[in-house]
Amino acid sequence: MVKNIAVIRGDGIGPEIVNEALKVLNKVAELYGRTFNYTDVDMGGCAIDKYGDPLPESELKKCVESDSVLLGAVGGNKWNDVPGNMRPEKGLLRLRAGMGVYSNNRPAKIWKQLSDASPLKKEIVDKGVDFIIVRELIGGIYFGEHKTEGDTATDVLRYSEAEIERIGRIGFETAKKRNKKLCSVEKSNVLDSSRLWKKVMHRLAAEYPDVELSDMLVDNCAMQIVKNPAQFDVIVTENMFGDILSDEASMITGSIGMIPSSSLGSTTCGLYEPIHGSAPDIAGKDVANPIGTILSAAMMLRYSFDMNKEADAIENAVSKYLDEGYRTADIMSDGMTLVGCKGCGDLIVKYLTKE
Ligand code: IPM
Ligand code: MG
Repeated sequence: MVKNIAVIRGDGIGPEIVNEALKVLNKVAELYGRTFNYTDVDMGGCAIDKYGDPLPESELKKCVESDSVLLGAVGGNKWNDVPGNMRPEKGLLRLRAGMGVYSNNRPAKIWKQLSDASPLKKEIVDKGVDFIIVRELIGGIYFGEHKTEGDTATDVLRYSEAEIERIGRIGFETAKKRNKKLCSVEKSNVLDSSRLWKKVMHRLAAEYPDVELSDMLVDNCAMQIVKNPAQFDVIVTENMFGDILSDEASMITGSIGMIPSSSLGSTTCGLYEPIHGSAPDIAGKDVANPIGTILSAAMMLRYSFDMNKEADAIENAVSKYLDEGYRTADIMSDGMTLVGCKGCGDLIVKYLTKE
């Protein structure tokens, strides 16, 4: 089976982490007799330098026409002063919107080998951290009108019932496949858009009687994630709340460098990216952790290509790598063996076997 993957290396550590993920995909192809074709796509700061545009239409087209997109990271201080609508991040937002990937799935799970890396107390970690944040990705304040007039700036937060309903369904469907607990997070004590969010979630609940729905205000949720993360199974929330809560959730797992994500819309063509940024301070130094990107590639195989065995093989290879005591700098601890970005990718390739 031939799959065409659009590959966006991006900026900062993007190119190095994507290289490691491609090595892993190539090994999967070899072991399982698959063919992955890669098409390079320029997006982010590198595209601004080359075309004066963070995502030219021709580059977006390559993504929309692919079977799925693998992305490293975009952005960096170098482009801080470009106007808002030309920033590297704008390329990412246009890509998400252009692909119509409204549902972003961000797992927060503590690998047993890394339980010491969590900043939380052992008794909290031991209760288990394994939940998913389902973040609405192409609406809300990110995509409302942005304007600056004189000394006043405005960003519009707007959601329609239809936008809330489609992400709500993903939340319920995700919970249905897991422990059947869905927590809808909003700020309904202040925002109209959140009151609508809550109303739509409760209306949908009637269609999913086997899923237990609860509501939580976003500020309380931020607190509960560090106080008692074991209470969560699936969290469904709007774009900006999901952005903030997913960084928080990733940190309690030990390292943001370990967390993959999938973004899907109404087709199987998805966007797969680690949730961390481009980390320009460590770019090109061979110290970045490529596991978030490698696991994103595994998610691509599982959710877009229906290659579950291949995805399991990658996840098992990552687990074996951790079992053997290898660590990149971000998760390094006493008694472990420090490896660089390339070394990490090589070892995961080495541990990849056909089950
Ligand atoms: C993320 C990032 C992006 C976001 C930025 C880079 C625009 O923080 O994927 O979480 O805010 O969505
Ligand atoms: Mg973010």
